[in-house]
Amino acid sequence: MEIIKTVAELKDRLNDYRKGGKSVGFVPTMGALHKGHGELVNYSVKENDITVVSIFVNPTQFNNSNDLNLYPRTPERDYDLLEALRTDIIFTPSVNEIYPVPDKRVFDFGRLDKVLEGEYRAGHFNGVAQVVSKLFSFVMPDKAYFGEKDFQQLAIIRQMVKQLDLKVEIIGIPIVREESGLAMSSRNQRLTEDEKVTVSAIYRVLKESTYMINEYSPEIITNRVVGELNSIPGLHVEYFSIVNGDSLETVSTWDSTESIFGCIAVYCGEVRLIDNIRYK
Ligand code: PAF
Repeated sequence: MEIIKTVAELKDRLNDYRKGGKSVGFVPTMGALHKGHGELVNYSVKENDITVVSIFVNPTQFNNSNDLNLYPRTPERDYDLLEALRTDIIFTPSVNEIYPVPDKRVFDFGRLDKVLEGEYRAGHFNGVAQVVSKLFSFVMPDKAYFGEKDFQQLAIIRQMVKQLDLKVEIIGIPIVREESGLAMSSRNQRLTEDEKVTVSAIYRVLKESTYMINEYSPEIITNRVVGELNSIPGLHVEYFSIVNGDSLETVSTWDSTESIFGCIAVYCGEVRLIDNIRYK
């Protein structure tokens, strides 16, 4: 496994591999890796000759400098984990390497980046699109892997790839959960042991709500989920919406479309967690 810090060196190395006819799989990350990332890497290693993992905490996608500063950074642990998973290249650039000049690009994703997370994290997905488009242009992967926990991010990346007419195949990988049901996330490291027990209610309540769709409308289920989670001391739901899985617009009936998901953001103390569940 090689650890590469510059774009020039990364491109050189990947050119060599490509000349040898090797396919390249790519897993972009912000580090603080967990089993969810491990799953993305496992898929990439299985499906490609070479796997590149980037570790870069992207400042342009944080709209809160406190969140950026508190984002967990565990490079040595990450390197060990990636080596064990048979990663070929870790790309861990500096901010200057990625943004030698400020990135002024503004993407237009229509309403896709205005709903759900977009309502609460202005500019977040523009920052994600900036960094991922740059990383794609450096790595030029055949396939790139993203977790379905970041449901809206996956939709935005697919849209960006269409808009920029990129050749990369985007692959979504199902959420990996703790035994308690908590969706794996780097932010979980900021939870105390007691908080980890509290937040396990998120998946339990979401899961229970999927059994109610024959009896109740999306609106009633939305209110029940929010009410139940907000009644648990320590939890505060920022939003919960039952949406069309493609447009991410709220649905009012279960038969309005083929694919329906519930997407949620919940605060436990200072830690903001997101999750989602499929209804149909
Ligand atoms: O999902 C993440 O960790 C980040 O948003 C990504 C895709 C690595 C871009 O910084």
